[in-house]
Amino acid sequence: MRGFFNDLVQQIGVPDVQEQAMLAIEDEPGDDDGGHVSLEPAVLLSDLPAVGAVRVDLDGLPVAVVRDEQGQVHAIDDTCSHAEVSLAEGEVEDCTIECWLHGSRFDLRTGKPTGLPATRPVAVYPVEVVDGTVMVDVRAPIDTFSQNPSKEH
Ligand code: FES
Repeated sequence: MRGFFNDLVQQIGVPDVQEQAMLAIEDEPGDDDGGHVSLEPAVLLSDLPAVGAVRVDLDGLPVAVVRDEQGQVHAIDDTCSHAEVSLAEGEVEDCTIECWLHGSRFDLRTGKPTGLPATRPVAVYPVEVVDGTVMVDVRAPIDTFSQNPSKEH
């Protein structure tokens, strides 16, 4: 598994946050560091738009699985932090997804809104693509802000 990620990272130049997510994915239950990852199948990679999102329900949680313009796959909470709107229905551009109702965009790597009216981030989840299936762990949201403190405010 580690070789797969290393190859993928080298091929597509994954940003720091996703590298951290991939490192988290390598944790196994029972590791000494207490890491625990529960990846589950979310959607077939072939069912994702070339650039865009689909909404899936994982453990009762609506999740937007998104492919950006560089072909990287992300998973974020599907519900806009401003109101009850599905982010999967928004346009994807520059590694962000737009909320169609009021226009806030959310960074797919951090979940942080890049503009008003939304002010709170949405959760970002670890993603792994295995044999054409996008796997997501909704039980272990990525702590994107402690990893990128300069992006917090
Ligand atoms: S509902 Fe998403 S920005 Fe207002």
